[in-house]
Formats: sequence, structure tokens, C-alpha cells
Amino acid sequence: MRFMAEINRIVILTGAGISAESGIDTFRSAGGLWEQHKVEDVATPEGFARDPDLVLGFYDLRRAALAKVKPNAAHHALAKLEADFSGELLLVTQNVDDLHERGGSRQVLHMHGELKSALCTSCEIRSPWDAPMSDRPPCPICQAQTLRPDVVWFGEMPYQMERIYTALGSADLFVSIGTSGAVYPAAGFVQEARQTGARTLELNLEPSDGTHFFHEARHGPASKLVPTWVDEVLGR
Ligand code: OAD
Repeated sequence: MRFMAEINRIVILTGAGISAESGIDTFRSAGGLWEQHKVEDVATPEGFARDPDLVLGFYDLRRAALAKVKPNAAHHALAKLEADFSGELLLVTQNVDDLHERGGSRQVLHMHGELKSALCTSCEIRSPWDAPMSDRPPCPICQAQTLRPDVVWFGEMPYQMERIYTALGSADLFVSIGTSGAVYPAAGFVQEARQTGARTLELNLEPSDGTHFFHEARHGPASKLVPTWVDEVLGR
């Protein structure tokens, strides 16, 4: 990639596409999660209020499915980048899976929350969680049986937006990997980064909705594109 010598601060955004080759369904592909389920039923506060059993069961299945999948070459490559890049790196993911962590990344900002975290609606404290919630287990902190998945639903505010915008404001390079660019605010990060002078790169199976906002776009599977790009950044 051009201007590599000037790259000191990188912000990476990942989406469901980076985990697709590990066997986790994306949202908007044919047969994807949003074709199998109605978004308003399983990914909104209103859906949860209407039918908590349905929602808790949906996330219980997705959490349990994590045990059957493994990180792929793209997750591992980003972990290598974190370990070996001498500048600043912020890895932001929209994914609620734990494949970045299991691939070796140590600092991951989950802007849409995490399947392996529970949020208590009584005490509002988050706890690491790896069990079902449908049977209404008590909150480990306050004992109330009011846990919900610590996942950001439509209509809720994604996590740590201030930190993300600060990093975008001083980034030299913004890279978007495996995301359709259909969901804001993440879909707007490319324009935010460009405005303050960052170069922008898309790595996705196909052109995303916002592909024209990027200086450069490479299309193909993440397991191939991401390791190649990481080697370029690290000068190998
Ligand atoms: P999408 O399902 O919208 O998009 C996945 C993108 O990954 C698509 O553009 C695919 O072409 C691409 N893709 C598929 N396989 C790939 C591969 N092997 N390598 C590279 N790219 C591949 O998923 P997201 O963009 O992550 O939010 O969706 C964003 C948000 O919408 C999610 O976090 C979720 C969803 O509704 C909430 O639930 C709040």
C-alpha cells in the first residue's frame, strides 16, 4: 500500500464477514441471520420486552455455537499486527463473537457488545458469561434474575463511541474488513476518518454499500486479503 512509511496510527473496523469463513452466519447474505429471523423480534429492546424467552433463546444458541467454531487466518493476522506493529492500533469490531480474542488479539473494542457478557438490567453491571440465560439465572453481583445479553440492539447506543471517534480523528489509516456498510454509526467511520486525512482501505468479499468512500478497495475472502495486507504493513 502507498505511503506505508507514514502510517503510525491505524483504526480497523471488522464485521461479520471476517468470521464467515469460521462458520458464523453473516447478517445480510442469502440465508443469513436476518433472513432466518426478524430483526425487530430478536434485536430490539421492544422485541425483548414482548418475548424475552425468544430473545434469550436466540442468543443462547448463538453463544453455544461459539464452542464449535475457530478463528481463521484473518483473525490470526490481526493479532500478529497488534503484536508487531510499532504504532498505535485500535481494533473495533461490530461482531459479538469472541474470535478476535481467540485468534490472539488482546485489545478488542466490541462496539455492539459481546455474546459472552451478561448485562443486568437491575444493577446495570456487566459480568463475563458463558452459560444459557433462558433459565433466568441470578446476576452474580445483585442476584436479581434480570440478566440480558450484553449486545447492542437496534435503537440502542453502540459502546465507546467517544473513544472510537477520537481514534478516527487522528488515524493515518482506516481499514474496514468484512462489513456491508449497512449499519450506522459504523458505516460512517470511513467518511469520518477521511475528513481528518486518513487513507482508507476496504477489504471485503464484494463491494460494500459504501465502497466508493474508500481510497482503495480489495475484494475477496478475508482469510486471504487480511494476511496479505498485514504482511504489507509489517514490511514482510
Ligand atoms: P453483514 O452481514 O451486513 O455484512 C457482511 C459483509 O461481509 C458483506 O458485505 C459480505 O460480502 C462480507 N463477507 C462475507 N463473507 C466474507 C469473507 N469470507 N471475507 C470477507 N468478507 C466477507 O454484517 P455486518 O456488516 O457485520 O448489528 O453487519 C453490521 C451489523 O448489522 C451487525 O453488527 C449487526 C447487524 O444487524 C447488530 O446486531 C446491532
